[in-house]
Amino acid sequence: MGYKITAKADLSPIDYFVEVEAPHVAKAWKPGQFVVFIVHEKGERVPMSVYKAENGRIGMFIRKLGKTSLQLYYEYSVGDELWSFVGPLGKPIKVKNYGNVVFASDAVCGQAENYATLKAMKEAGNYTISIQSFENKANVYPEEFLAKPVADEHYITTDDGSVGIKGNYLDVVKELIEKDRVDIIFAGGKLGTLAKLAELTRPYGIPTITTVRQIMVDGTGMCGSCRILYGNEIKFACRDGPMFDAHKVDWADVLKRAERFKEQEQLAKERYLE
Ligand code: FES
Repeated sequence: MGYKITAKADLSPIDYFVEVEAPHVAKAWKPGQFVVFIVHEKGERVPMSVYKAENGRIGMFIRKLGKTSLQLYYEYSVGDELWSFVGPLGKPIKVKNYGNVVFASDAVCGQAENYATLKAMKEAGNYTISIQSFENKANVYPEEFLAKPVADEHYITTDDGSVGIKGNYLDVVKELIEKDRVDIIFAGGKLGTLAKLAELTRPYGIPTITTVRQIMVDGTGMCGSCRILYGNEIKFACRDGPMFDAHKVDWADVLKRAERFKEQEQLAKERYLE
């Protein structure tokens, strides 16, 4: 039995939304956890953040980045089935009343986590502040896919200022910190920005929990591919994360390891598009 695609939509020219029927995963999933799917029998394992887990279905935001994401976008429609869908994997984040909770994101997985995390945090009685960063107006998601419904305060930034505040989420976070309005911050998206966020909040001692995305193979802590240096320890993003205390992460090592298969990924994508 496969896993039926129940909805699909464009989010921007580069990102799309897919919803898959997987009742056992949707029932067990908690914010912070992820899923791994395989599109067809000969496909690769794809780890993915969760946007929504409702009514037996898992919603995900996906970037048209590599071979598999393009294949899913172009060759699979509502009613088709994915070959495998596993989860939830990883550790859930601690959902409780912290006070003012911020979620900042600037790339596809982070945008999904932004909604999912703040929904749970709002239900736990927090005041929720969402900051969603995009490159430009064309890349901003349609209103119904933003984190607005779960945010008491919602900001959009664009690199070129075509919508919302000009800049990225770091600018907004800085202002919020200066006004003493951040009790804890969560973030997901581009690793380079997450590394900068860790440095921004460190002097203030603000708890900063971010996704640390690394190349995953098995997704269960067996292969070692997603290892990160964390304080004086080695951790696995798939088993011990993927969300970690950003102040303990060795970001230089994370950034270096994330580039490992760039060439092979590009090659696979080019071959698919030929
Ligand atoms: Fe293999 Fe994490 S993906 S150890």
